[in-house]
Amino acid sequence: MSGRLAGQVAVVSGGNGGIGLAIAERLASEGSLVAILDLTDREHVKGGRLLPIQCDVTDFESVRISLARVREAFGTIQILVNSAGVLGPVANAVDIEVDAWRLVIEANLTSTFICCKAVAVGMIAAGYGRIINIASVQGKEGTSLAGPYAASKAGVIAFTKTLGKELATTGVLVNCITPSAVDTGMFDEISSERRADLLDRIPMGRFCSAYEVAAMTAWLAGDQCSFSTGAVFDMSGGRSTY
Ligand SMILES: NC(=O)c1ccc[n+]([C@@H]2O[C@H](COP(=O)([O-])OP(=O)(O)OC[C@H]3O[C@@H](n4cnc5c(N)ncnc54)[C@H](O)[C@@H]3O)[C@@H](O)[C@H]2O)c1
Repeated sequence: MSGRLAGQVAVVSGGNGGIGLAIAERLASEGSLVAILDLTDREHVKGGRLLPIQCDVTDFESVRISLARVREAFGTIQILVNSAGVLGPVANAVDIEVDAWRLVIEANLTSTFICCKAVAVGMIAAGYGRIINIASVQGKEGTSLAGPYAASKAGVIAFTKTLGKELATTGVLVNCITPSAVDTGMFDEISSERRADLLDRIPMGRFCSAYEVAAMTAWLAGDQCSFSTGAVFDMSGGRSTY
């Protein structure tokens, strides 16, 4: 298949979710073969270009076994997108149980570290790779009632900057995207009052779409992205000032 990403192999964690699936389908439509690593099991079409693998990305061994399957089916991995995540409790930090906090940090931050660690070694050896982490504007700003989520996403941003610097001369570029609210399954967990409040804070006056996140991810996944690493790409409709 021709396309900007023809012949490339991508791994998308959380690829059965609203944003992850839009990303997986976009990368496939640009010519990439895409493995989807997700807790859930789901059939995919897209001309056999999507390979679903059930995997818990908080578990290094589960990721290692899944990546071996990807390499066996498709070959060397050039693109990693970390989109797996959970919203976690919507509550004041003082009311959140320690175990609930840990689950969110594991699902959003530790999973990103694990997938980067497991994939980057091969990319470094090959001298080429693109890693895109899906963070959130909440990681820049902090958001009341979303302590573990905002903290985990701040961690994803800081880890992206760190890994970007560490790998800067290897040919492996590491960037993250910070969307404001996107209308997906995760969004369904938010009350209508909170949604109205989120919308109110977006100068463009609308929510981001999963397709917009997919479009930016696809650009960051290609070789036209060549002098950006450790960078944070804003998708907040004008909300963020940095
Ligand atoms: N929806 C939003 O408003 C929004 C805004 C900014 C950032 N984000 C981020 O975008 C990413 C995708 O969110 P979404 O809206 O598509 O959510 P979603 O709930 O639709 O999808 C998340 C996916 O991650 C998977 N997942 C969760 N934990 C996992 C684990 N341990 N192992 C493997 N898979 C796991 C789930 O099964 C699900 O398919 C998340 O990291 C989220 O924090 C979302």
